Amino acid sequence: MEDILKELKDDLSKVNTEHELSEVKTKYLGKKGNITLLSSKIKDLPVEEKKTFGANLNKIKVEATNLIESKKEEIATLILNKKLESESIDITLPSTKVPMGSPNIVEKIVEEVEELLMSMGYDVVDGPEIEKDEYNFEMLNLPKGHPARDAQDTFYVEGEELLLRSQTSPVQVRTMLEGKGEKPIRMICPGKTYRRDDDDATHSHQFMQIEGLLIDKNVSLSDLKGTFDVIAKHLFGEDCKTRFRPSYYPFTEPSVETDISCHVCKGKGCSVCKNTGWITVSGAGMVHPNVLKNCGYDPKKWQGFAFGFGAERLAMIKYGIDDLRAFYMTDLREVQNFDRKED
Ligand code: DAH
Repeated sequence: MEDILKELKDDLSKVNTEHELSEVKTKYLGKKGNITLLSSKIKDLPVEEKKTFGANLNKIKVEATNLIESKKEEIATLILNKKLESESIDITLPSTKVPMGSPNIVEKIVEEVEELLMSMGYDVVDGPEIEKDEYNFEMLNLPKGHPARDAQDTFYVEGEELLLRSQTSPVQVRTMLEGKGEKPIRMICPGKTYRRDDDDATHSHQFMQIEGLLIDKNVSLSDLKGTFDVIAKHLFGEDCKTRFRPSYYPFTEPSVETDISCHVCKGKGCSVCKNTGWITVSGAGMVHPNVLKNCGYDPKKWQGFAFGFGAERLAMIKYGIDDLRAFYMTDLREVQNFDRKED
């Protein structure tokens, strides 16, 4: 028995894997294992030896089992340590950069204007891109056959009544109709607009406008000037100057073009401002009494101002982009560059 135990210890010292251990276990404690076979010898022993032999055999069995169990634990710890070692993370290694998406620059401009005007009490509203001729033109003082319709060469969807909106101004009509001639209004509506233009560096058949409308009592052109000044300074910096030039839109009276001082040459004259020192950024004016009337507001009690920015134009001016098509060309370098510059 002593020899068997010695042999077992020797075998165990050479064991390195679970598989080898199970082989050793079978060799000693299996059905035909060395220790198991010893029990069959009991019957051949004289009676007086049977008892001590049996007791010793049991001791050996227990000892062998314990030896094998502790070897099993040893191997498990070994395997775990190896695993921990191979799976450990070196936190000092530089990480791989995960490429991230970033918002389109036009979207950024829209958000900047939205945030500012919301802080001034304006609601951001939405309108349909497929619009009625009635809202896109007629109620905005542009009846059928009006020459100013030609300036907005329109995609018609069905007959002469449904179209892809050529401006976001119909959202003015929708908002005023909802106000039922009673409620003051402050709203902006950023949205897509469509015109049958050939795409080039400054035109696109689809582009983004930001419409603004304020209706209240005692509103004057100076309120429009003040509001425009705040927007311009927010987008182009505190030293940005603004001016109005007379213009014509059928839905405003008086109508103006709004200019900002050229942020590139600070008004001295350069190629960006075509040597005028000024850049035009929107159309605007006091809401025409006919439009107020059409939409249920009494022009004797209510006045309002409206403005319409071209969002791509704002982005082009702000970021010095000279081709409008860049916004829609899905060239990731366009947005990534600007993101880095900003952040
Ligand atoms: N809707 C005009 C356009 O697309 C822009 C515009 C001008 C909007 C004057 C206005 C406004 O609200 O008052 O050319």
